[in-house]
Amino acid sequence: MAQLHTAQRQIASSSARFKVLRCGRRFGKTTYAAEEMKGACLFEPGPVAYFATTRDQARDIMWADLLKECLGTANYVAHNEQRLEVTLRRPDGTTNHIRLFGWENIETARGKKYSLVVLDELDSMRAFEKQWREILRATLADYRGRALFMGTPKGYKSLYRLEKLSKTNTNYAVFHFTSFDNPFIDPDEIEEMRGEMSPSQFAQEVLAEYHKMEGLIYEEFDRDKHMVACPFVPVRWGLSIDFGYNHPLSAGIFAIGADNSIHLDRMLYERKLSNERRNEKIRDLIGDTRLDVQVGDSEDPLAIDTLNTALGLKIQPVVKGSGSVLEGLNKCISQLHQGRLTMDPSCEDLAWEKENYSWKLDKNDQPLDEPVKEDDDACDMERYAVMTILGRHKSGFRVRTA
Ligand SMILES: Nc1ncnc2c1ncn2[C@@H]1O[C@H](COP(=O)(O)OP(=O)(O)OP(=O)(O)O)[C@@H](O)[C@H]1O
Ligand SMILES: [Mg+2]
Repeated sequence: MAQLHTAQRQIASSSARFKVLRCGRRFGKTTYAAEEMKGACLFEPGPVAYFATTRDQARDIMWADLLKECLGTANYVAHNEQRLEVTLRRPDGTTNHIRLFGWENIETARGKKYSLVVLDELDSMRAFEKQWREILRATLADYRGRALFMGTPKGYKSLYRLEKLSKTNTNYAVFHFTSFDNPFIDPDEIEEMRGEMSPSQFAQEVLAEYHKMEGLIYEEFDRDKHMVACPFVPVRWGLSIDFGYNHPLSAGIFAIGADNSIHLDRMLYERKLSNERRNEKIRDLIGDTRLDVQVGDSEDPLAIDTLNTALGLKIQPVVKGSGSVLEGLNKCISQLHQGRLTMDPSCEDLAWEKENYSWKLDKNDQPLDEPVKEDDDACDMERYAVMTILGRHKSGFRVRTA
């Protein structure tokens, strides 16, 4: 076993059930996690699950180190590279295992039980709170298992919120260390990094401090302010859909106020739905809401037709002229600024996207007038609704269902 360095030992000696590691790059988070996982596998009753942001990442970051830790030791029994799983023998003769996963497959954790769950690079995990609450938390119930949440902060996101939670929930302990706390990294190397980064990048990446991310489109988005119960009496209702299969299909039901304030009441966000499943899910999402506005991504006219026929809807393709993305984004930003664009606290997939959705940067790191086309499915869905509800041609879309 590798010798933990002083700061890592401090983390190891804590008996907190949920440990939150806010640490600078190269601090030794992943190395620490490998040790903690091995210990849990040998001495705790249930298996161990490790999540990186993707399965490929899990393999790249952890697999080789984990094998190195285990192969050739007295406890090693077997490993399975297909499953990214290592089996060890415990002192009492029984076996236990450690398995690596990607966050994109988090659904597969349903129904499992673990003694330890490790989440590596927490702030890159989509809708962490929702998945924690709906899937992971229950996997720890049988063994009263533990969790290790770790990462370098990327703005005020999941690490920040867990840190806030730790102030009132004694199950959580937070450990804050910088890259300088790893004695195996030459401090001159870190100083050199300082010269290559902006001061706020250095503060975030090396000192692991919370900094507002640069180049965010929804810079003003604030969960406390914008994730609320509907703040007005709805006078109309709208449905908006951004179609996708490999990307998530994102659909939302919007409440609309007399002054055209817009509130996302509920949403659907799911990958790989067959046509039938998609129809069912959208039917359930609509429920008995009477829709005044129905809009969908115009790039998928076939999907719009299929849905309209199957569910008796009158979804119109969103009007996209040149410059309409920027125009739509500006409308959304301005509505948000005025407190007229809100969402129900359950709509975490949109919240997560809003906290990451960024402008493309030029070679001098200055934001361009164009968004990065990544993790924008719920943001697009919301933008279609806003453009349609506030658009010049809105009367054209006010289609009442019977
Ligand atoms: N206890 C230790 N003993 C020896 N080397 C260590 C120890 N802890 C970390 N290191 C070394 O420090 C480097 C960074 O470690 P690691 O990859 O675990 O950091 P990290 O915080 O996960 O980094 P990143 O931010 O890139 O994910 C690696 O080369 C690792 O081998
Ligand atoms: Mg790491």
